[in-house]
Amino acid sequence: SISHKVDSLMSLMTLEEKVGQMNMYSDFWEATGPLPTEATSKYKFDHLKKGMVGAMLNVHGVEHIKKIQQIAVEESRLGIPLLFGYDVIHGFKTISPIPLAEAASWDLTAIEKSARIAAIEASATGLNWTFAPMVDVTRDARWGRVMEGAGEDPYLGSKIAIARVKGFQGENLSDLNTIAACAKHFAAYGFVESGKEYNSVDIGTSTLYNIILPPFKSAADAGVKTFMNSFNDLNGIPVTASKELQRDLLKGQWNFQGFIVSDWASIKELISWGYAKNESEAAKLAVSAGSDMDMEGYAYINALVDLVKEGGVDEQKINDAVSRILRLKFELGLFDNPYKYCNEAVETEKLGHKTHHTAALDMAKKSIVLLKNETNILPLKKTGQRIALIGPLANDNHSPLGNWRAAAEPNSAVSVLEGMASFKGNSIVYEKGVDLVNGDISFAKEGEINMTDTSQIKTAVKSALNADVVIMVLGEHGFQSGEARSKTNLNLPGLQQKLLKAVYEVNQNIVLVLNSGRPLAIDWAAEHIPSIIMGWQLGSQSGNAIAQVLYGDYVPSAKLPMSIPRSVGQIPIYYNHKNTGRPTNRENNVFWSHYLDSENSPLYPFGFGLSYTEFKYGNLKTNQDKYTVDDIIEISVKVSNIGSFDGKEVVQLYIRDLLASITRPVKELKGFKLVKFKKGETKKVTFNLSKEDLGFYNNTGEFVVEPGEFEIFIGGSSESRLNTTITLK
Ligand code: IFM
Repeated sequence: SISHKVDSLMSLMTLEEKVGQMNMYSDFWEATGPLPTEATSKYKFDHLKKGMVGAMLNVHGVEHIKKIQQIAVEESRLGIPLLFGYDVIHGFKTISPIPLAEAASWDLTAIEKSARIAAIEASATGLNWTFAPMVDVTRDARWGRVMEGAGEDPYLGSKIAIARVKGFQGENLSDLNTIAACAKHFAAYGFVESGKEYNSVDIGTSTLYNIILPPFKSAADAGVKTFMNSFNDLNGIPVTASKELQRDLLKGQWNFQGFIVSDWASIKELISWGYAKNESEAAKLAVSAGSDMDMEGYAYINALVDLVKEGGVDEQKINDAVSRILRLKFELGLFDNPYKYCNEAVETEKLGHKTHHTAALDMAKKSIVLLKNETNILPLKKTGQRIALIGPLANDNHSPLGNWRAAAEPNSAVSVLEGMASFKGNSIVYEKGVDLVNGDISFAKEGEINMTDTSQIKTAVKSALNADVVIMVLGEHGFQSGEARSKTNLNLPGLQQKLLKAVYEVNQNIVLVLNSGRPLAIDWAAEHIPSIIMGWQLGSQSGNAIAQVLYGDYVPSAKLPMSIPRSVGQIPIYYNHKNTGRPTNRENNVFWSHYLDSENSPLYPFGFGLSYTEFKYGNLKTNQDKYTVDDIIEISVKVSNIGSFDGKEVVQLYIRDLLASITRPVKELKGFKLVKFKKGETKKVTFNLSKEDLGFYNNTGEFVVEPGEFEIFIGGSSESRLNTTITLK
């Protein structure tokens, strides 16, 4: 058995070699050998030969990986193969939509397939481990990393976490084209205060257990092989040093058998947090808490051996960590063949394979959300139209790749201009209009572009004057979201709002295509522009997907996985909020829970998204009125496609627990089904709820199911009102 193999290997290992397995280094290699430019390169190289490295990150390509693996396997004393990890977040060479966009598809099969393809390409290039999926629930669009997760809802987030883990890891981890996944960032990174990167988190048990942990629990139950902890603290304890989260909850209560990797240098950062006095104490705290591997932080490799020798750390802790790491190496089959992922022919064949692009296009179309289509400009007529295509993102091959673009070729995304050009019947004039604010530096200042030069706007306005339809592609540069891309302003960056208004002055027949890695505050556009689509950052096939949706070759079916705020001041904004004691203006005075200068509701709510066709809901029924705790509650609804297109609808079920021992949200998603409808077709859609859906975690972290009344809502968004009530006895 694997346990046996792990034990017998460990019995041969010195303490130094064991600690070596807990050490991961970032790239220090190129085809010719260690990088001469990196100061630590030689030092890392020596460690590699001595068996003092367990894993590498940021190296890819069969040629590089093979050479490094060869040193570990052939030159180190025990020849233990290395893990090779990389941020394969939404594709490797063929880039899929950013994860937040994919979440908008609510299509678990497509999402799983997208991760599967990423794994096929990553494994073909020598990698065996990805630092994905990010399963952090996110309510704050100021945080740049919202692009990398599944949005604001723990239920949807859990289902997507499972799909992604299954996609990366496949049926069998020892297959040649599967890789180990990593659920990150454990935990609560998505709740960093004020949306500011690497910040502090202070939240209660209810939010932790009911909102943040469910996707992690689902990933663990789905068999994810690794977890990554995070940079933030949680209620005063940096999570890298949190025994409660790692050793007690994850490895204890949840019985997680895999290993936990730190985030980049997060062990050493315990010193900056003022939680460890030096590197040695940082290492001791992290290993005691259950962090098994140190990512490019040097704390373990520098301090752990001495700590054990001096009695500061029990060797059992080291053994536990090392056995988890070795177990994965055996499961991957690396001991049988350390070069199993290193086949140049496979690499050449698989990277950017045609079928991967077909799947990326399919995923991209499924991710596009139609937010508004008031005058039915969309779908566009295919012939005889003069189209003005305007905006800095309309002819952009870079930004649609988004952040975390792995090994994508620079500028390899299909632009909207290119995608539209493949439809030949209309004439297209393209104008950039304004420059884009870049995000590739830590301070993406508006000052980077000339904010007073409006000459390009004038030219764009001229092109709009005589157009039948204006398509404007506006939003964020591809590197304005992602790690360390927090923002305080969610308006269209730079001069884009000015451009939009100037064009609107001369031609109101506008379709606004938004491209961004996060929800943007577009209240003016939502009021004035007749058609708006959320085109996110859709990856390699972005422009083709957008064009096919604009022309109606694909009827939009996506729904927002994250609320779009009216303004940044509403953040954090999320549909599953509490009712408060004063939810409405009953007394007709000022003393109720609201803003003086804004509505409470978001601009577009979670779960919302239009289609070119229209769906009608009715006949909501349960099989009984009263249930006991162990009953299965069956709920059905009739949904009809009353519009003039075939289409798909995400039928969503929400509950509200009306009275409970802790306050409960006004709505909680507990089921959804993506259903196809022919024009004119009616279908009965059925859901089953069980006690797992009706219960919640109380303030001691215990799961309870309390009797009482529950409202059940079914509809096409979190704001749907069709409902019924059931009683749990
Ligand atoms: O995987 C990432 C993590 O999400 C953020 N810090 C760096 C890691 C490795 O690149």
